[in-house]
Amino acid sequence: MRITAYRKAHFNAAHRLYRQDWDDKKNAAIFGKCNNPHYHGHNYDLTVGVTGDIDPETGYLIDLKILKDIIKKEVENALDHKNLNLEVPEFKELNPTVENIAVVIYNKIKRVLDERFELEITLYETPRNFVVYKG
Ligand code: NI
Repeated sequence: MRITAYRKAHFNAAHRLYRQDWDDKKNAAIFGKCNNPHYHGHNYDLTVGVTGDIDPETGYLIDLKILKDIIKKEVENALDHKNLNLEVPEFKELNPTVENIAVVIYNKIKRVLDERFELEITLYETPRNFVVYKG
């Protein structure tokens, strides 16, 4: 029986969207408020979905404590209250858009999650703007 379990999490982080190879005018035009040279924060809401088969012995898909610990270690410890551009190695050369953050989170969790599971990342940058990444 295929089923999906979800766990929600939250982190705050600062970022700035820009390209070094563009001038200030083009950066401001493309990235708007998120181009602020002094950085700014977002409250990110994350939902991690794990899909697989129910274990007939336990009745579990995944022990949600394991998923909770993975999210804590791979996402919250790595991103919460961080300046994504300056403090998170994955964004040294990568623009920390909500799209790219979702992909980075997916890759970090996928590395440590049992390979029998499919993974789905839903990431809200604002209450109305969000992305979904399934690999
Ligand atoms: Ni922003």
